[in-house]
Amino acid sequence: MGIISKVHPVRSHSNAAQGGINAALQPEDSWESHAYDTVKGSDFLGDQDAIEIMCREAPEEILHLEHLGVTFHRNEEGQLGTRAFGGASAARTYYVADITGQAILHVLYEQLMKHEEVERFEEWFTTALVKDDAGRIAGAVTRNIRDGSLELFSARAVIVATGGNGQLFSPTTNALICTGDGIAMAYRAGAPLMDMEMVQYHPTTLAGLGLLITEGARGEGAHLYNAQGERFMEKYAPNKMELASRDVVSRAEQTEIDEGRGFPDGTVALDITVVPRKRIHEALREIVNVGRDFAGVDITREPIHIKPGNHYVMGGVKTDINGQTGVPGLYAAGECACISVHGGNRLGANSLLDTLIFGRRSGQHAAASGRGLPVPEPAKAELAAEREMIDSIVSRERSGRRVSELKAEMGAVMDKDCSVFRDEGRLQGALEVIKRLQEEVTTVAVDDKGSVFNQDVLGVLELQFMLDNAECTLVGALERRESRGAQFRTDFPERNDGEWLKHINLTANGDVPAVSFSEVTMTQWQPEERKY
Ligand code: FUM
Repeated sequence: MGIISKVHPVRSHSNAAQGGINAALQPEDSWESHAYDTVKGSDFLGDQDAIEIMCREAPEEILHLEHLGVTFHRNEEGQLGTRAFGGASAARTYYVADITGQAILHVLYEQLMKHEEVERFEEWFTTALVKDDAGRIAGAVTRNIRDGSLELFSARAVIVATGGNGQLFSPTTNALICTGDGIAMAYRAGAPLMDMEMVQYHPTTLAGLGLLITEGARGEGAHLYNAQGERFMEKYAPNKMELASRDVVSRAEQTEIDEGRGFPDGTVALDITVVPRKRIHEALREIVNVGRDFAGVDITREPIHIKPGNHYVMGGVKTDINGQTGVPGLYAAGECACISVHGGNRLGANSLLDTLIFGRRSGQHAAASGRGLPVPEPAKAELAAEREMIDSIVSRERSGRRVSELKAEMGAVMDKDCSVFRDEGRLQGALEVIKRLQEEVTTVAVDDKGSVFNQDVLGVLELQFMLDNAECTLVGALERRESRGAQFRTDFPERNDGEWLKHINLTANGDVPAVSFSEVTMTQWQPEERKY
């Protein structure tokens, strides 16, 4: 058993999850309430069987993490303490100040080091998944970033757990490593992608830089104001106000900005000064640093300007509740997967939970399914083909633009035309840009011709992955002719359950992805009007 990671695992993007992890663990709460909030948050696109599993298993998961050593916040009585989060009908978010993901990741990595039977390949970059003649997954081709050597790994099963694709957009809250590699590799291997159009814009990010100001701030009581000093959420979500679901708050902010009630820098204000200073320093200390270092603002004394910014992809590799994709032996878990527990919009603090619950289920299922099978022998031709592809990138002479310029163009067009508000003309225009960039990337050259830590070459491979992701995002967004969750089409402004209460699946098919549909699984909650 082995783990391959393109960065040292504690630098993975779960590190950046700030606000917490949800579970109905308080006596007055229930998993059913958590599940209903999640279904409503998803705008009824989430699959309810998967949501039920996640919410039922959440309390055990929190206790398990605490027993492993995660230092969750404890209240004055010494009990595990919670904070409120958006779209939730109870305060059920467990947290470690505003570094919850970092705390969990480090504890899990410590635990991993106890298991000598698990080999770790840190700073290895996977370029392609490999199948056997029968179409079952047989391994992967992977480049050792330290010396540029390429290896063929054999595996009875592969779990893709490569995170999201936020780097398609600029700016984004996502780390530079979030380039959708696993989503693209699974797609190229024949696995369908589901609901790729569902891209979350987080309501509170720094303009320009995209850095995250945790929803935990609003959970602790912070308010949103427009430039006229109005607490505008009164108009959009009179009951939940700043703690409506993220799609609702982001649309409200963008409407205020677009209609001229924002600040000249295209933002609205988040006022955290209403939270006692002692509490800010205890519970929100990371964003005190972010405010000071990246915006020059002391958030304990003055409001900070924020705007909606790219944060998360609800879509991804379509899986069942055990992480199985459409390709035998291939699994997906975490942000790159679409089970779908988040549907059209993810509730804050449900992503760490999704990753942990379905990561475990995928691991267990993959291990059981591979047991007893002979170790496959992937075709060596795949290794040769990948080597040839990389050699051709390295040997090309530069005549056109740099990979960074192509990436910047992609990020700008995705943020401009595929963000909070969308329409057919803009989506179509963005798709044309992406198709052009897909051509251009096949001729892009690199300046670094060496083999040791050649980030230039990895940049080309990542951009190719990202362009596959971008194409699927836009094709899905064009296909879904309605507004639901994070997809708001100004040309189809209503949710249309009659025609669109269904998942959109995209399968690799030459130049244009093949589109198909699948049913949303419903157990006990029928679609209803969504109000906060
Ligand atoms: O706002 C936040 O702390 C982000 C949390 C999340 O995306 O779950």
